[in-house]
Amino acid sequence: MPQELRAVEWTGSGLALIDQTLLPHRTETVVVRDVDTLVGAIQRLVVRGAPAIGAAGAYGVAIALLQGEREDWKQGRLREAVGRIRQARPTAVNLMVCVDRVAARLPEGLDAVLEEAAAVQREDVEGNRAMGAFGADWLLEKVSPGRPLRILTHCNTGALATAGWGTALGVIRELHARGRLEVVYADETRPLLQGSRLTAWELVQEGIPHYVQADGAAAGTILRGEVDAAIVGADRIAANGDTANKVGTVGVALACADAGIPFLVAAPTTTVDLATKTGDDIHIELRDEAEVLEWAGVRTAPASSRGHNPAFDVTPGRLVTGLVTERGVLEVSAGELPGDRLQ
Ligand code: MRU
Repeated sequence: MPQELRAVEWTGSGLALIDQTLLPHRTETVVVRDVDTLVGAIQRLVVRGAPAIGAAGAYGVAIALLQGEREDWKQGRLREAVGRIRQARPTAVNLMVCVDRVAARLPEGLDAVLEEAAAVQREDVEGNRAMGAFGADWLLEKVSPGRPLRILTHCNTGALATAGWGTALGVIRELHARGRLEVVYADETRPLLQGSRLTAWELVQEGIPHYVQADGAAAGTILRGEVDAAIVGADRIAANGDTANKVGTVGVALACADAGIPFLVAAPTTTVDLATKTGDDIHIELRDEAEVLEWAGVRTAPASSRGHNPAFDVTPGRLVTGLVTERGVLEVSAGELPGDRLQ
């Protein structure tokens, strides 16, 4: 994939988003200029992935400001609009953190708001690059089978899910760039297929060898010894290391623990939410049951079946071998995360 791929890009008057619901068959960009459309785009996963929705929310503050000027909003209406962007999805803390950071500059006007949003975007890409190097260094030091590594990942954590480059997929890209990657097992990631549609698409662009496998295949692939390490992203990490990520992640972590291979989480320090004590306190988004009862818009389950569709699950911190951040790798399998090293 060209490194300059940007899931989120400010055009000067609006926010250009690659419509991730259409990939890999169509690459289309939508330009968002109002708050309702932005909130809808975040909720429909036109833009998705914790850091990418953080960046979209950051620029969303500028969209709200411009819409307010066009439509002559009062202060209260602007605050309410910014609040709606902030709450568009509940699990990823990045959205709230980024919106709050940029909204703090609202009194200084549009230029300041745009400057802050651009800083959010720039810092994310820089952080991802650093994370990629730290994660690859750690894996090559700790896992040394004497041949290139076989890595399993879940969901999509690449350039599409961030402001650029990627978190867990950034580590994978770095291993590939160093010639130390044999193959990636990309879990398809039911029900919305971020793995088979988006991760596989990014891996194809990068020329990275990979298999797409059903989520249900992951544990067996790991227990058969076909994987050297798993690396995933995160939407929110509690103070005790409990990690919310795409539903299906905890099964991967359990299999890694049983197989005795590393299970790494790669995420910027802004994903760590020290105010959230444990995973029990993380709000897990429940999505429309139609997403699990249908396939490609066609009903597959019996008409009377109900669907249970949590978008995320929580992996207990004790199952996380290491947390790869832009500051380095923290090996924390038990207890509190070291807050002073994270904020
Ligand atoms: O529902 P999604 O596609 O937004 O879920 C995305 C994930 O769970 C990612 O793993 C996480 O946001 C990290 S993206 C770098």
